[in-house]
Amino acid sequence: MMKVRIERIVDEALDIRSFRLVRSDGQPLDSYEPGAHVDLTGPTGVTRQYSLCSPPQDRRAYLVAVKKEAQSRGGSAALHEVEEGTELEMGAPRNLFRLDPTATEHVLCAAGIGVTPLLSMAYRLTENGQPWRLHYFARSPEYAAFSELLANTFAGHVQFHYGVEPGDMDAALSECLNQAGSAAHVYTCGPAPFMNKVVEVAARSRSEDAIHLEHFQADPAANAGPSGGFEVELASSGVVLQIPANTSLVDVLQAHGCDIDTECREGICGTCIVEVLDGVPEHRDNCLSSKEKAGNKQICACVSRALSARLVLDL
Ligand code: FES
Repeated sequence: MMKVRIERIVDEALDIRSFRLVRSDGQPLDSYEPGAHVDLTGPTGVTRQYSLCSPPQDRRAYLVAVKKEAQSRGGSAALHEVEEGTELEMGAPRNLFRLDPTATEHVLCAAGIGVTPLLSMAYRLTENGQPWRLHYFARSPEYAAFSELLANTFAGHVQFHYGVEPGDMDAALSECLNQAGSAAHVYTCGPAPFMNKVVEVAARSRSEDAIHLEHFQADPAANAGPSGGFEVELASSGVVLQIPANTSLVDVLQAHGCDIDTECREGICGTCIVEVLDGVPEHRDNCLSSKEKAGNKQICACVSRALSARLVLDL
């Protein structure tokens, strides 16, 4: 984690504020790949993940946007109270939501605060000169963040969709995706019901590999509780460890001295992913793709467990 200073705060929409962050020591920040996010620890000590939405090559500052959540437990609400000049702790950028380098056309579907990672993608796609379009769904113009920037800087690429009722969403999204070629990749970020609908609609016309989504909420399965004990074998040493029913895999591995980092511990960030050499994981995370889960070659050690009696891990 490093110290960053809030250089500028802007009200971007109702209950959404952007924060321009610079390093407290005045050094440049790392450039990052579009779709990346950082961990930010606010004044109450709560750490949350926020997408970076500045131009990815701009190393002078990062921009994040924070929506004040009604049920905030000290994360977003506390950030809405801070003033310019406040120092925060920030982790290095991580990315589980990348632009596919093989894609030649891109459709970005955002709802509400979910526009943030797609904004960094918009900068890169514009720079690359690739065909792309952003469909931004919001309750009304007051709820649409960065609307001026989107309308001006990315004019011709952005279509706003205001007040679409849930029952009309399928048709609206079908129309959006029909505008693009069938080979276009689809990227979505927003509330889970919105993303689920985008995936459902997109899957009618393209393969799973061409559909990408960002999760910032834990899968309820992650909190479903343990499903029984199992054992893991560490491939490098042959040591076998027992994972009791009420203990997470990562806790046992770390207690045994395995060098595994964790951040969210909710199956979202992907920091704790470990390679699986044998056995069948019970995937409970939200960061591996369906294809990766089906391949059973990786496990998110903070929340996932095992369907087989033993997993052999590349540790
Ligand atoms: S620590 Fe974030 S997914 Fe495991």
